Amino acid sequence: MADTSVRTPGEKCPTCGQPSPSKESKTETGRFKAGLEDVVAGTSSVCLVDGIEGRLLYRGYNIVDLAEQSTFSEVAYLLWYGRLPGKKEFAQFDKTFRSYVELPEETGMILRLFPRAATPMEVLRTAVSSLGHYDPDSGNTAHDASLRKAMRLTARIGSIVTAHERLRQGLEPIKPVPGESIAYNFLYTLKGEKPEPLFVKILDLCLILHADHEWNASTFAARVTAATMSDMYSSVTSAIGTLKGPLHGGANEAVMKVLLEIGEVGKAKEWVKDALARKVKIPGFGHRVYKTEDPRATVLRKYAEQLGKHTGQSKWYEISRLVDQEMLEYTQREGKKIYPNVDFYSASVYYTMGIPTQLFTPIFAVSRISGWTAHILEQWENNRLIRPRAEYTGPLRLPYVPIDQRG
Ligand code: ACO
Repeated sequence: MADTSVRTPGEKCPTCGQPSPSKESKTETGRFKAGLEDVVAGTSSVCLVDGIEGRLLYRGYNIVDLAEQSTFSEVAYLLWYGRLPGKKEFAQFDKTFRSYVELPEETGMILRLFPRAATPMEVLRTAVSSLGHYDPDSGNTAHDASLRKAMRLTARIGSIVTAHERLRQGLEPIKPVPGESIAYNFLYTLKGEKPEPLFVKILDLCLILHADHEWNASTFAARVTAATMSDMYSSVTSAIGTLKGPLHGGANEAVMKVLLEIGEVGKAKEWVKDALARKVKIPGFGHRVYKTEDPRATVLRKYAEQLGKHTGQSKWYEISRLVDQEMLEYTQREGKKIYPNVDFYSASVYYTMGIPTQLFTPIFAVSRISGWTAHILEQWENNRLIRPRAEYTGPLRLPYVPIDQRG
C-alpha cells in the first residue's frame, strides 16, 4: 500500500512552496547544497580565500608576504582594525596586547579541577568560557570594549593551553612573561625554559598562517552566535567546539598519528598507496575551497624543511614530503588532484619543536581566535540574525494514535 504520510514527487514543499524533488534527487533539489558547499552566506572584508588561484588575503594582504615579513601581533591588529598600524600606534597596541597574557587567578584554579581524561580542546572550551566572568568589560557591548575583549581573549588563550598541559604532566604552571610575544610565551610556559629564537619565529609564522580563513565552519559558528547578539565569550566558545572536530581543526593531530604510524621514510609511499586503495581519507589533504594547493601548506613546507635541518630531525619532514608527492601522483592518475592543506605540514613543524600532539588543535585555536573575534566585530557592525531554512523531508500526515492504543 502507498505511504500517504510522505510527500509525493511534484507536491509542493511545505517549507518553501516549491514543487518537491523527484525521488532520485532527494537531497539535491537545486534550492540548497549539502554542507552549504560554495554557498555565499554574506559579505565580509576580513579575508579572501581564492580557491582557484590558491591565494589567501587578510584585509587585502597576501598571507605569503605577511608570513615572511609581519608578526602575529601585527596581523591581529590588521584583522581587528582593517588596516596595518603605523609604527607608534603599533608599539602602543603591542605593549597592551602582550600585557594581557596572564590568566585571571580563578581561571588558573578552574584548570586544576578537570578530570585527567579531559582533552585539551574540551578544557579550552570550558576555560575560555570562564574567562568571560573575569573580564572587566564583560557586560560592555561598546565597540572599543569589544576590541579590548578580543585582545584579552587572544593574548590569554595560549596561557590556558600550556597551563593545563603542565598540570596534565603533573607540573606546576609557569607565569608568562608580560613583555614577550604570544609565540614566545606559548613555548616558554609550556617547557619552562627560554625558547630557541627559530622556534619562536616559526611558531609566530604558524599563528599568522592560521589566523583567518573566511567563513570556515568555526568562524561561521562564531558569527551565528554573535548574530543573536550574544556576547563575545559565548561566540568564541561556539567556535572552539566547532574547531575541535576532525574534519576541521582536529586534522593536524590526526596527521601526526599518520606520520608516527608510517614511522620510516622508506614506508611512506607504500602506506599512501595502501590507504588510498582502501578509500581511506588521509588527514591533512583535500579542501572544500582550494582546487589547487593551499598556499599555507606551500609556506609551511619550506619551514618544515628548514626546521628539520636546524634540529637535525628531518625524518618527519621527509616522510611528509613523500606522502605529499605520492598523494598527488596517485590522485592525479585517478583524474583528481588532492593537495595538502594547512594541517599537513604544521604537524611535523609542531612535533619537531617538541610540542605534544594533543596541543596541535589548541594551537590552531590560539591563532584563529584573532580571526573569530575580527568576524564577530564585523558581524556586529551590521548585524542581522542568521537563521536559514531547512527543506522539510519528514512525514506530513501521520495520524496521532493515543498511547494507550499503541502496542
Ligand atoms: N584523502 C583521500 N581522498 C580525499 C581526501 C583525503 N584527505 N579529501 C578528499 N578526498 C577525495 C574524496 O574521497 C572525494 O573523492 P570522490 O569524488 O572520488 O568520492 C573527493 O576527494 C572530494 O572529497 P569530499 O570529501 O567530498 O570533499 P569535501 O569538500 O566534502 O571535504 C574535507 C573536504 C572535509 C577537508 C576532506 O577533504 C577531508 O576529509 N580531508 C581530511 C581531513 C582534513 O584534512 N581536514 C582539514 C581541512 S582544512 C581545515 O579545516 C583547516
